[in-house]
Amino acid sequence: MTVNGISIGILGGTGDQGKGLARRFALAGHPVLIGSRSEARAQEAADSIGSGARGAENAVVATEADLVIVAVPYDGHKALLESLRTELAGKIVVDCVNPLGFDKQGAYALPVEEGSAAQQAAAVLPDSRVVAAFHHVSAVVLMDPAVDKVDLDVLVLGDDREATDTVQALASVIPGVRGVYGGRLRNAFQVEALTANLISINRRYKAHAGVRVTDV
Ligand SMILES: NC(=O)c1ccc[n+]([C@@H]2O[C@H](COP(=O)([O-])OP(=O)(O)OC[C@H]3O[C@@H](n4cnc5c(N)ncnc54)[C@H](OP(=O)(O)O)[C@@H]3O)[C@@H](O)[C@H]2O)c1
Repeated sequence: MTVNGISIGILGGTGDQGKGLARRFALAGHPVLIGSRSEARAQEAADSIGSGARGAENAVVATEADLVIVAVPYDGHKALLESLRTELAGKIVVDCVNPLGFDKQGAYALPVEEGSAAQQAAAVLPDSRVVAAFHHVSAVVLMDPAVDKVDLDVLVLGDDREATDTVQALASVIPGVRGVYGGRLRNAFQVEALTANLISINRRYKAHAGVRVTDV
């Protein structure tokens, strides 16, 4: 599977996660479109990344990009995707949203009516090819120019084999990263929820922990 030259749009690309992914994909030579609710904020984020990244409103990004990553907070997730159903039809839509709550004990997984954020995306976007991936990668690490190799596997989940193969290949363009198939979309909840455990690990060990799958 080759992903050479495919353009990548990022909804909510002005945030830490979106900018981090945008930076790595732009460095790997992909055309990158940063999306935002504000064209000016998108442009500012694109300028901060450089490497040819462009900025536009989310709807423009959803229309123009070959593949679209959703990197908005869980709060705004469903409404944003509902508003872009037409623009995202027929596309691979990669959801990296972790529905988490935070209290005095730290992070914890929130229940999601559809089962997971990724299944919510699939329910809202019946004509898109929804894939879940990039939940565990740290935005801090993605943005750090001192990190040449990002040391983790990206678990890729979905019901469309060609789409998960594409996203595995895309994950692997980031030096050090391997995209590993992690099951059907119905198994996305625990992958999203595992982020709460990683946040606990990060706090205890002052780390940016990732996951590696053995014997694959
Ligand atoms: N940060 C990480 O290390 C990390 C790692 C893995 C996964 N994730 C997941 O990636 C997603 C983004 O994380 P983040 O830390 O980058 O979040 P963030 O900075 O809070 O938000 C990202 C962007 O989403 C847009 N946004 C905020 N509220 C919105 C709403 N109600 N509707 C539409 N757009 C909205 C904003 O862009 P505009 O105001 O410019 O529109 C914002 O810059 C989250 O779901 C998170 O669980 C994060």
